[in-house]
Amino acid sequence: MAQSMALRGSARILRQLARRDAVAIARVAGANARPIAAPVTAAWMAAPGAAAAPRRGMATASRPSLVTSAAAGDAGAKAPLTFEPETLPKVNVAPFSTQIAEWKGDLLVIAVTEEDLVTDADSGVVTLKSDRLKALNANSSGALGDALAQGGFDGKQGSASKVVRVGNASGISAKYIALVGLGKAAKVSTSTEWGTSPFQALGTTVAALAKGHRAKTLGVVLLEACPSEPSGAIGQLASAVLLGGYESSRFKSKKSPTASVLESVDIVLRTGGWFTNEAGLTKAVSKAHAVAAGTMVTRYLVEAPPNVCTPTHLADCARHIAAKFPDTFKIEVLDKAACQAMNMGLYLGVAEASEEPPRFIHLTYTPKGGAANKKVAVVGKGLTFDSGGYNLKAGPGSMIELMKFDMGGAAATLGAARIVGAMQPAGAEIHFIVAACENMVAGKGLRPGDVLTGASGKTVEVNNTDAEGRLTLADALWFAQEKCGATSIVDAATLTGACIIALGNDIAGLFTPSDSAAAAVEKAAKAAGEKVWRMPFESGYFDQLKSACADMKNTGGRAGGSITAALFLKQFVKEEVEWAHLDIAGPVWDEKAGLPTGFGAATLAEWAAAQGAPASK
Ligand code: BES
Ligand code: MN
Ligand code: ZN
Repeated sequence: MAQSMALRGSARILRQLARRDAVAIARVAGANARPIAAPVTAAWMAAPGAAAAPRRGMATASRPSLVTSAAAGDAGAKAPLTFEPETLPKVNVAPFSTQIAEWKGDLLVIAVTEEDLVTDADSGVVTLKSDRLKALNANSSGALGDALAQGGFDGKQGSASKVVRVGNASGISAKYIALVGLGKAAKVSTSTEWGTSPFQALGTTVAALAKGHRAKTLGVVLLEACPSEPSGAIGQLASAVLLGGYESSRFKSKKSPTASVLESVDIVLRTGGWFTNEAGLTKAVSKAHAVAAGTMVTRYLVEAPPNVCTPTHLADCARHIAAKFPDTFKIEVLDKAACQAMNMGLYLGVAEASEEPPRFIHLTYTPKGGAANKKVAVVGKGLTFDSGGYNLKAGPGSMIELMKFDMGGAAATLGAARIVGAMQPAGAEIHFIVAACENMVAGKGLRPGDVLTGASGKTVEVNNTDAEGRLTLADALWFAQEKCGATSIVDAATLTGACIIALGNDIAGLFTPSDSAAAAVEKAAKAAGEKVWRMPFESGYFDQLKSACADMKNTGGRAGGSITAALFLKQFVKEEVEWAHLDIAGPVWDEKAGLPTGFGAATLAEWAAAQGAPASK
């Protein structure tokens, strides 16, 4: 006991040292010394390469060796924190006419359907059926037959055969070869109605194989005829390969020996089959790169612990994105005083108990040429930690230790901005908005029962301090409409545990009174391969939110908790504005893997990019 007290004491001193150190560095480093907030009218471009600010004992490489190894081990990271990987593997689309066996590299994967194989009814042994596969097998010293002979593979979607080491066997130049299943041929269409497509499943499996075999160079072959226009499928395959096999290593003291080392991916397509419309394929691959980069931004933010990913860190990430695409992005970061000046009492009420200063983040994308004739907004919940406040998240099942992910909506919003920056869609001015803060406990914090007034003038009786996300979103939605002029808005938020109970961990809830807004989000989610499900917008349930002393309460009962949360948000959206709310509390986090999913970035970017298309004006 005494020993552990002493240990805790020294850890505290080390943390204090580290904090002093961080302040000293901030003073010398130009990037951090820059003002971090401005009045609402001011906006400026970010300095490129803005660094992630360290906080409370979190060591970074920008902090010199003054920090003892014990302090570094306190939280661990060695490399400077970045907002995305420095590079992603290169993806090439290459045609072949005859000899795939000549492909040179570490791992060659042949995609097959169930119908390309045949299972012997008596022995259960699976062998090659397709003539092309047989020819390839003959060309590769029977390597495919060897992979099948080890059993356990019949072409099911996303499944893999054993990986065979072919080394220097005559006729084939790859080091390893394997087969991966696309599932039933009839279902191999280039789009799917729901969730993961066969090509996303293929890409995810292939990425895992490449990771497991430490492949730097990967080839994926699609042998047979293409069922339809292939660009969409190739894009899905490419982004799934780029995003698969992800492992969290930024906060470990040693480099991971198992992390993917993939450098390049060749998607090898049959001329006249899959390889048609080369320009379309190239475009699809560059979009896949953009989606992967944006999704990685989202994952990095969600993965980062709450002592690293603070409101200031989110703002720095927004600056990083603006600096990457200076021609089309403008960044504005508002501090507490600027938000006070706009009377954002709901947002600031939540932020009040935290030592971390709130940051209201506003990134504006203006298409080149400035020909935007529609203004839209993506709004993300940005609680960098949600303790619950006085309604503390207590006891097992409250998931308090995971509440770093409560900025998943903000992370998806910034990830979407990263994608939009790379894609440069025409037609719409897109505002990306996050009212970032922490929900903590302190004497100056919200009391259950307090009445707050938001920027819209509406008053809220806060009967539960743990329903904080909706309070921050209310002022962010007001800003999107009143300060940005957005006429179409989607928000994404880890808003309610109730939504996880309703839809589980893989599906986001979609809430909107508008059928056309629902259709637009559903279309975007389908293209992104993410699962959203429209929930009833049952306006009668608003009765639960009626307050005797204010315009409304912030929570109702347990029944229909995700619906009453959405109805609360609707109070802050004008009648004529198209609005949809995505509750991403479930899919933000992969519980089994203990990893962020990156959910939402692709869907929000698809939605935003489509807003400028002529049909949606
Ligand atoms: N951030 C939580 C929602 C959440 C809970 C997301 C668990 C993921 C997992 C949100 O701020 C919250 O606490 N919501 C409350 C609302 C309730 C007080 C009406 C909830 O869901 O319990
Ligand atoms: Mn909460
Ligand atoms: Zn929350």
